[in-house]
Amino acid sequence: MQLLDGKLVSQHIKGEIANQVKAFVTSGKRAPHLVAILVGEDPASQAYVSSKVKTCAELGFQSTLIRYESSLSEAELLRKIHAINLDPTVDGILVQLPLPKHISENNVIEAIKPEKDVDGFHPVNQGKMMLGLPTFIPATPYGIMLMIEHYGITTSGMHCVVIGRSNIVGTPMSILLSRNTEPGNCTVTLCHSKTKDIKGLCLQADIIVAAIGKPKFVTADMVKDGAIIVDVGINRMHSEETKSGFRLVGDVDFENVSAKASYITPVPGGVGLMTICALMKNTLLAYMANIAR
Ligand code: GUN
Repeated sequence: MQLLDGKLVSQHIKGEIANQVKAFVTSGKRAPHLVAILVGEDPASQAYVSSKVKTCAELGFQSTLIRYESSLSEAELLRKIHAINLDPTVDGILVQLPLPKHISENNVIEAIKPEKDVDGFHPVNQGKMMLGLPTFIPATPYGIMLMIEHYGITTSGMHCVVIGRSNIVGTPMSILLSRNTEPGNCTVTLCHSKTKDIKGLCLQADIIVAAIGKPKFVTADMVKDGAIIVDVGINRMHSEETKSGFRLVGDVDFENVSAKASYITPVPGGVGLMTICALMKNTLLAYMANIAR
């Protein structure tokens, strides 16, 4: 079994991004600028956004974190997004999801100018991705593709089972892996809550991407020998043994599944780090297009 090491791969890619940023700044250009908007106090969202802001600093990006209380109205948030859309010094905007129930995520995503939608969630960008046109690919599936590419894994002809059909992970992942690209060219089965016999399907999989948000959902009896396992889950479990009072557990029972896998991502230290890395790549792309305008 080989670990798909998100720390190692993300360090490598972040190094490349930092060098590109340094070259732009040395030539007299401003740094790339990402604005992150966080509404409410959800601890996991706070942790994700603070990692994104920290990574911006590490790579020489400018970042602005805008925080709102959960009572913020949708109209107020949309007004702020419109203002940032018009600000030429901002290259990328992300609104951390989930949002409080009274705010429509669709309205918010559609308000972001597609050229600044570094999450790749806007319908225009999702449509371009589906057609294989250049665009911002949602960060988690993009990060997974970068990881597979880094390890030189040839996925062509493989059967991939994606568990979970969210708009931001499962569905785009199924599209990317089925496209005529490398990595890609897989035969993809997209499983969800109504799927019959997930275990039987997983047992046929050369690659399993687990993205359902259920701790240790994928167990060893669901995995064939030599399968490639990608664990997207970041579940917070209560723990007496850590200072924070919780520990992170993936959607895969790592301890037992790793004995059967050819490659496997750990949690933490796997897909999560790649997601941030992919977001930074998208922001650099947005910046390059913006300064060329
Ligand atoms: N919530 C969970 N994942 C993501 C992500 O990739 N981007 C945003 N904006 N919110 C998220």
